[in-house]
Amino acid sequence: EKGGYEHFMLKEIFEQPKSIHDTLRGRLLVEEGIIKMAGIWDHLERLNQAQKITIIACGTSWHAGLIGEYLIEEFARIPVEVEYASEFRYRNPIITDKDIVIAISQSGETADTMAAIKMAKEKGAFVYGICNVVDSSISRITDAGSYTHAGPEIGVASTKAFTSQLTVLSLIALKLGKHNGHLSNQEFMKLITELDALPKKVEEVLESTHEHVKEIAKHFIGAQNFLYLGRGYNFPAALEGALKLKEISYIHAEGYPAAEMKHGPIALIDENMPIVIIAPKQGHYDKIVSNVQEIKARKGRIIALVNKGDTQVASVADFVIEFPETSECFSPIIASIPLQLLAYYIAVYRGANVDQPRNLAKSVTVE
Ligand code: F6R
Repeated sequence: EKGGYEHFMLKEIFEQPKSIHDTLRGRLLVEEGIIKMAGIWDHLERLNQAQKITIIACGTSWHAGLIGEYLIEEFARIPVEVEYASEFRYRNPIITDKDIVIAISQSGETADTMAAIKMAKEKGAFVYGICNVVDSSISRITDAGSYTHAGPEIGVASTKAFTSQLTVLSLIALKLGKHNGHLSNQEFMKLITELDALPKKVEEVLESTHEHVKEIAKHFIGAQNFLYLGRGYNFPAALEGALKLKEISYIHAEGYPAAEMKHGPIALIDENMPIVIIAPKQGHYDKIVSNVQEIKARKGRIIALVNKGDTQVASVADFVIEFPETSECFSPIIASIPLQLLAYYIAVYRGANVDQPRNLAKSVTVE
């Protein structure tokens, strides 16, 4: 059942070209220049007239939500807030019948997300679900939704479900933006063409980074802390990279927006602090270059994720992982792949049970 892989997690990491393809299948019709999503189409007016969209989720799904915020605000120009379901439900949030709530959940069974949805519905909000498990509790109580179609995810640490959540959120943001006029046809066509090419790029990055990341991981088996940095769309990707590492390797890791480093975390940096920095060409590259120099000046050990052919960041970093270029909005999908592999191999070398980390459950049905 593990298809020749040592763990479900590795199998699921390698399934991503297919799972992303499955998420796009029947929805992204590049030749016709359309995105077909019944759940969005049927409620297009309500969605596009929303004064605010609130995304609720937990854990990895919450990280996907943060990227969803950037996507929807950039392309559809609708204000988005992202909340932990567990905070949202206990703080009497301002939600009315004009609100849209998007709930994201791989399992579709997370207790806090479920309770938050019930509360939002009682306040009259329209609730849209993004679930992976078909016919799960959340998919049944939401007013409409889209499945991620990533296939069953067995490893407790979420991998392919995350990249499929990002793919669905990209589709939704582009479709809303196209229909509400904020996205030009030309820009829309350019972005959907790129989206269509993602499975191929994910395959490329798996092939080109797998062995290399496995080697890099050996150098960090004894680390006690890790810092993950990224800007813009890759800030949530940094959070997710850190979560993966702490869940399965039990190494303490934190994600930060790179520019926040100087407001505190920089105090932690010395030769014992490994720093993973996501630094694609777009998205304020020059700023990232100076972040990397600041880290190096304090002797931090840098693992840099850069686009192919990068020289500036690469010349300062201790370890370099190259990934293919995309528009900034899709770069977290690509950058997440080597980060998953890095967490996986560090955990494997430390002898951890990667598929079933201690104290964690695949669906958190307790509050
Ligand atoms: C991380 C992880 C958890 C889940 C969280 C939400 O790898 O697995 O953080 O993402 O418990 O679960 P779902 O998406 O099923 O609601």
